[in-house]
Amino acid sequence: MDSSRGTRIRRRVTLFLLLLVASSLVGTSRAREAQPLPTAAAGGGSRRAPERHGLSLDFYAKTCPAVDQIVASVTAARYKDFPAAGPAVLRLFHHDCFVEGCDASILIAPTAAGAAASAAPTVERDMEENKNLPQEAFDTVELAKAAVESKCPGVVSCADVLALAARDYVQQAGGPYYPVKKGRKDSKVSLAGKVRGSLPRSNSTVDELLRVFAGKGLGTADLVALSGAHTVGFAHCVHVLGRIYDFRGTRRPDPLMDARLVKALRMSCPSSGGSARVVVPFDVSTPFQFDHAYYANLQARLGLLGSDQALSQDPRTRAMAQELAGNKTRFFQAFVASMDRMGSIRIKKGRKGEIRKVCSQHLLAV
Ligand SMILES: *[C@@H]1O[C@H](CO)[C@@H](O)[C@H](O)[C@H]1NC(C)=O
Ligand SMILES: *[C@@H]1O[C@H](CO)[C@@H](O)[C@H](O)[C@H]1NC(C)=O
Repeated sequence: MDSSRGTRIRRRVTLFLLLLVASSLVGTSRAREAQPLPTAAAGGGSRRAPERHGLSLDFYAKTCPAVDQIVASVTAARYKDFPAAGPAVLRLFHHDCFVEGCDASILIAPTAAGAAASAAPTVERDMEENKNLPQEAFDTVELAKAAVESKCPGVVSCADVLALAARDYVQQAGGPYYPVKKGRKDSKVSLAGKVRGSLPRSNSTVDELLRVFAGKGLGTADLVALSGAHTVGFAHCVHVLGRIYDFRGTRRPDPLMDARLVKALRMSCPSSGGSARVVVPFDVSTPFQFDHAYYANLQARLGLLGSDQALSQDPRTRAMAQELAGNKTRFFQAFVASMDRMGSIRIKKGRKGEIRKVCSQHLLAV
């Protein structure tokens, strides 16, 4: 463990302890009864039949029947050494699927030539949106893929390995175990130009979030359920500075953030000159546990990002966010259904894709 990693972890723990104070607020709202969901909100997304993608649970039944277990053996070992790789892999999967589909395009390494020739971004990983995806997440997928290659060479795509690894981590953090359909192929290109506008931003309004999701064939229910992935993981300070120091040019914090959370976050995130490496938890009450506390936090004005907090304010998303705050089983069901839909975005098949050997390199790359 290098010293900066040690510092980071100590900072996290300090903040976590500070925030335990804030979490006493959450208990009251969590006890509140869930309201029944209006049918309009419940229907968002469920109209889309999963059949559209042609993925299947037994895709590798003949060619690599143990693929789930092989990936799981790697993710379980990695989770012990680098628990932060869990949420990072989940985020990697999301960033993969939302840009040109679930095709491992995010995994392609920046080329040395591209980096040397100019600062112009070439592949998806070069873009600002993807710059701070942790290396541990990429390493985990690469290790899992290598383990799969050693048993069934040239058969299983990196896109499928990533989908499986994301599922494993959800379960390891205490979330639901769900079957993952397989049969994705890897992309033959990764283009920086496809990233902008394809991913939600930390300050996105609900309008913007719904537009981005709709562009992927996902609905309101998917937005609310998939945002629940913020029950684990950490954000860099840059994503909260506006909310805690100068909300929309007012020089005051966002009135929608509990004052105790503002205070705690200010201690970790100075208004300027802070370390770019400091991170703060999305879920201030149980940051390492995959549970439904994220939604209770929103009700208590303890959402970290503006795009999180907005979900419990907007009339289109509020009822469902409230329902999930009151019912963990319902959250797990909704999350699993939406992960299946997200995992099915723009699947490449046949000659439109490849099966890479090393996830960071195209098959024909020299
Ligand atoms: C979010 O922040 C970006 C700059 O980081 C800005 O261009 C954009 O307008 C902001 N969006 C909203 C809704 O405030
Ligand atoms: C929670 O959700 C589950 C699954 O949708 C449902 O069966 C159960 O009745 C709900 N519980 C409450 C208390 O609403």
